[in-house]
Formats: sequence, C-alpha cells, structure tokens
Amino acid sequence: MTVSSVEVSEIVDGLSADQKQISPKYFYDERGSQLFDEITRLPEYYLTNTELGIMRDNIDEIAAMVGKQASLIEFGSGSSLKTRVLLEHLSELAAYVPVDISEEHLCVSADEIRSEFPHVDILPVVADFTRQFALPAPMVMPIRNVVYFPGSTIGNFEYDMAIELLRVMYHEAGRNGALIIGVDLQKDRQTIENAYNDSAGVTAEFNLNMLRHLNRDYGANFDVEEFTHSASYDEDKGRVVIELVSQTDQVFEVADTVFDIADGEAILTEYSHKYTLDGFAAMASATGFKVEKVWTDANQLFSVQFLTRQ
Ligand code: TRP
Repeated sequence: MTVSSVEVSEIVDGLSADQKQISPKYFYDERGSQLFDEITRLPEYYLTNTELGIMRDNIDEIAAMVGKQASLIEFGSGSSLKTRVLLEHLSELAAYVPVDISEEHLCVSADEIRSEFPHVDILPVVADFTRQFALPAPMVMPIRNVVYFPGSTIGNFEYDMAIELLRVMYHEAGRNGALIIGVDLQKDRQTIENAYNDSAGVTAEFNLNMLRHLNRDYGANFDVEEFTHSASYDEDKGRVVIELVSQTDQVFEVADTVFDIADGEAILTEYSHKYTLDGFAAMASATGFKVEKVWTDANQLFSVQFLTRQ
C-alpha cells in the first residue's frame, strides 16, 4: 500500500496536540473491519440488534413514508442487514446509491447487493460523504431522494461536524427529500459502558488494533502491550470517550517524529454521542430538517427517525 503524506501529517498533528488523538478512520484496516463486525454481534452491543428490531417492527410504515420510486442514498457502504430490510420492502425503488470512501469496501458490498436484488438499479459512489458530492442519474427518474444513515454513526461526530454532515444530507436529499437516521439515546451509564467494554474483549482489541495498523502502514512503533483500552461515559456531555491509555512513561515514533507519553496519559480515538429526543430534534432543525416520526424499542434504547426538509 502507498502511504499518503497527507495522512501521515494528519496523524502527526493529532499526536502533537495537548490532547493526543488519532482519527477513528484508522480503526478500519482489514482486521479492524472484521473486529467491528464482531462488535455488532456482541450481546452487550445493544445498538445493532435494537436498530434492526426497530426497522423490522416498523418496516411497513417506513416503506409507506418513503413512497414509491424513491432513490435511496446510503451514507456508508451498505453491508448491513438493516439495508436489506429496507431494500426488501421498498417498492419500485428508482435506485439504491451506496456512498463510501473505500472503493474496495463499496465494490464488494455493491456486488453482494446486486446479486440479492437483481431488479434494483445499484449505483455506488466513491466519495467522502462529509462533503457534497454528485449523485448519479438512475435509469428511472426518482420521485424523491431518501438518505439513509444507520448505526448512530452521526454520534461519532462532534456537534459542529454533525451539523455540517446533516447539511450535506439535506443538500443530497434535495427538494421533497427525506432522511432516515439511526440515533442512539441517552440511558443509564452501565448499559452504555458495557456496550463499549465487552466481556470478550473484542472492543479492546478493536481499539488497540489501531496502533498495530499505524505500526504496519504508517511507520509507527507503538509498543501495543503498553497501552490499554478505555471507554467511559461522560454524562454531562452525553458521550462515550474512547481512548488508549499509556501504562508507563514511554516514547514512540510515527514516521520519524518522536513523541513522549506519560504513564496514565490517553490518546483519544473516538467519541460516541448519545442523544435525547429533544436534543436531536433541535440539532436537526438547526439544519433545516424536521423530525416527522420517531420509532423506538420498548426500552427506549435506540431510535430510528424520519426527517423531512422543512
Ligand atoms: N459507531 C460506533 C459507535 O459509536 C462505533 C464503535 C462501536 C466504536 N464500538 C466502538 C468505536 C469501540 C470505537 C471503539 O457505537
């Protein structure tokens, strides 16, 4: 693989800040993607199963709200079961447009979906969906665009970036457009922290794998054994803080830049924001969206929301 100097300087900048940090995008080498897949099947990781259950329980109503001949634009490569539930129930879809920055990921999952849904016009787009991108023209003219953003991935963005991303979705949805979005809800600390500290240690392995990825592909030399996984819920800010904590005073290098890290000092790898229904509605309305409908599970763990342009 070729190492991009832009990426190396991004990593070096993040580690030079007062609060050391590494972008969550470096979680996802091949092993990282496998581990994340495993996370979604963990008993403690309530998000995936709960969201899938909400989709299944309400799919007729969801399909009716989408309407006929829509173009479904998924932000992300669309490899999940949730996407399949939607595709199975949307009638006369004009097109399904998965959007992902990883061409390889996108091609593999688009091929799978093509073989399962041979009658749907599948038009994958390689793009960074945090910025506006051009949509392909389906063979059938869509009546409306419906953006799909599952997994509470919105929660991995800090407020300003989340707003920016919602604005991109607003733009891509276009006139009469809508957004179906998975939004994880605030709840008791234990349930949340257990989801990010599973007993099998898969999440710890996922977090630590980022250091192995940097060692292999970006000229780093982290002593992975000398870091531990940490995930704790900051109730005031409504977010899980996911970090790698140094177990000793040590030095490491990334592409010939040397860093010191103290015993107990943390490298931030990801936030996962949890929302109240009111909090999310306020954020949506700041971008021009209106919450039309919210579906939740019996325990109010998670929500799937249908937003339209005001
Ligand atoms: N979107 C996922 C979430 O916020 C990402 C995730 C799940 C994650 N488990 C993690 C990120 C563990 C870092 C570490 O729930």
